[in-house]
Amino acid sequence: MRWGKGGANLPVNEVRNLISAALEEGITSFDLADIYGGYTTEKLFGDALSGIGIERNKLQLISKCGIEKPCESRPYKVKAYNYSKQHIIQSVEQSLENLQTDYLDVLLLHRPSPLMDRREITAAFDVLKQRNMVKAFGVSNFTPSQFKLIDLEYPLMTNQIEVSLTHTNAFYDGTLDQMIVESLRPMAWSVMGSYFSAENEQNKRIRKVLRPLCEKYDQKKTSCF
Ligand SMILES: NC(=O)c1ccc[n+]([C@@H]2O[C@H](COP(=O)([O-])OP(=O)(O)OC[C@H]3O[C@@H](n4cnc5c(N)ncnc54)[C@H](OP(=O)(O)O)[C@@H]3O)[C@@H](O)[C@H]2O)c1
Repeated sequence: MRWGKGGANLPVNEVRNLISAALEEGITSFDLADIYGGYTTEKLFGDALSGIGIERNKLQLISKCGIEKPCESRPYKVKAYNYSKQHIIQSVEQSLENLQTDYLDVLLLHRPSPLMDRREITAAFDVLKQRNMVKAFGVSNFTPSQFKLIDLEYPLMTNQIEVSLTHTNAFYDGTLDQMIVESLRPMAWSVMGSYFSAENEQNKRIRKVLRPLCEKYDQKKTSCF
């Protein structure tokens, strides 16, 4: 999300370097979405990845769909959701083309729509599964009841949620409890929260706790604290 247009706007060789550096650290899962970079980042990532020569089964590629974002390449007038069967399938087809691969490890529904129809969604999942285009399905930013709505029809493998030391709602609103009950692992987004971007009382308190931990884990040289 932060590497392409609207973020660091990196050229393909720098994205390739970042992917290689991540792989060297044992990080093999990459979290993408159709809309990132105004529908351009998945192609950037795919072009970068194609020069690396890693076997596909050593990677986990995650994408998301369901948001329609007005931008240069799309004629949408407003930002809206689209969870029609046709839109979900087309979005995955496009992601696969951009990523230069024939399957996604995980497809997430990016945000819950008040108008989503689970029959449309599960019909799309059926097609994508039958065609071996997606291995597993999940959601993102769903409440526990919205999760259940889809999960009752089609087993979901995760809910990708905003959770960090500075954004703790998921600990209190039942979202993480549900993951425990269902024996599922959540995915966290913006795990750094506002730690690096806001100088406030909360972050001062966090820093106090982090300092001794930095000592303990020999991270004294890090510039972050
Ligand atoms: N499902 C969703 O709705 C959703 C929403 C948002 C994000 N996501 C996913 O989650 C991923 C991560 O989100 P995020 O980009 O917000 O992640 P993040 O890792 O929580 O935040 C990154 C931010 O922290 C800063 N930072 C990290 N380490 C730092 C350090 N050592 N010193 C100073 N600053 C540091 C970064 O600065 P720099 O920019 O300078 O590196 C950046 O501003 C995205 O790429 C996307 O795939 C999903």
